[in-house]
Amino acid sequence: MIEKGGMDMRELEDIRRELDSCDEELARLLERRMDLIRELTAEKKAKGLPQLKAKGRRQKGTLISRLEASRYGRECRGIADSILRAEKKVQAGALCPGNIALIGFMGAGKSSVSHYLRDMLAMDEVETDELIVEAEGMSIADIFEKQGEGYFRRVESQVIRRLRGKKGVVISCGGGVVMREENVQNLKASSRIVLLSAFPETILDRVKGSTKRPILNGHMDLGYIRDLMEKRRASYQAAADLEVATDGKDVAQICEEILARI
Ligand code: S3P
Repeated sequence: MIEKGGMDMRELEDIRRELDSCDEELARLLERRMDLIRELTAEKKAKGLPQLKAKGRRQKGTLISRLEASRYGRECRGIADSILRAEKKVQAGALCPGNIALIGFMGAGKSSVSHYLRDMLAMDEVETDELIVEAEGMSIADIFEKQGEGYFRRVESQVIRRLRGKKGVVISCGGGVVMREENVQNLKASSRIVLLSAFPETILDRVKGSTKRPILNGHMDLGYIRDLMEKRRASYQAAADLEVATDGKDVAQICEEILARI
């Protein structure tokens, strides 16, 4: 009995040892897969090929269908998704090691671009306006009305200060962020700053149906938008690492352009 018990122990240890080496192999394979993703990202960048479209589909098909066809397809459901998500993060890191901060006038497309980049590159995402609403427990319009613009700008600077240590985040900034140099410096510390621009006509078209922007309430006209854009233009351009015009482009095109040039 003692001898048999001893043999059982040895068999268990053999299985455990094999599991260990399996884990080692899996980790090595995943590392290799991620290295290849980095290589592919760099190669596409060098050749000016799109980063966001073709890639996901082809790799996803192979990985998911192979895992599904395996004897443990049902149990392993979800693993491919996790791997693909990790892969997007690696791709994001290869394209931009810090954060991507989006700046630009109201209606320039910061939120849509931010959501798209978040989904395509599995990045985290924050909107400075949302952080302000959370911190204050009231809407932007209410903060402007009850506390005034100066108070709003102070809270805005505070939330931006807190983002300094972050990495792998798309930061969608309120349109007035660049008017304080302190904000620009805090963003620059960890982010590439992308300016989304548009003609005043495009901006008016995009924002005219909204009442959520106190700066534009009662001033929803081309003249006012043009003047305010003009006043802010130098600050936007000084803050930006790169500028992407958004007129007549869809969100996927804008994101491709950002990633090609970042
Ligand atoms: C502002 C832009 C708004 C918001 C606030 C003030 C501005 O953000 O922060 O209403 O001064 O341009 P969006 O650019 O996201 O609309």
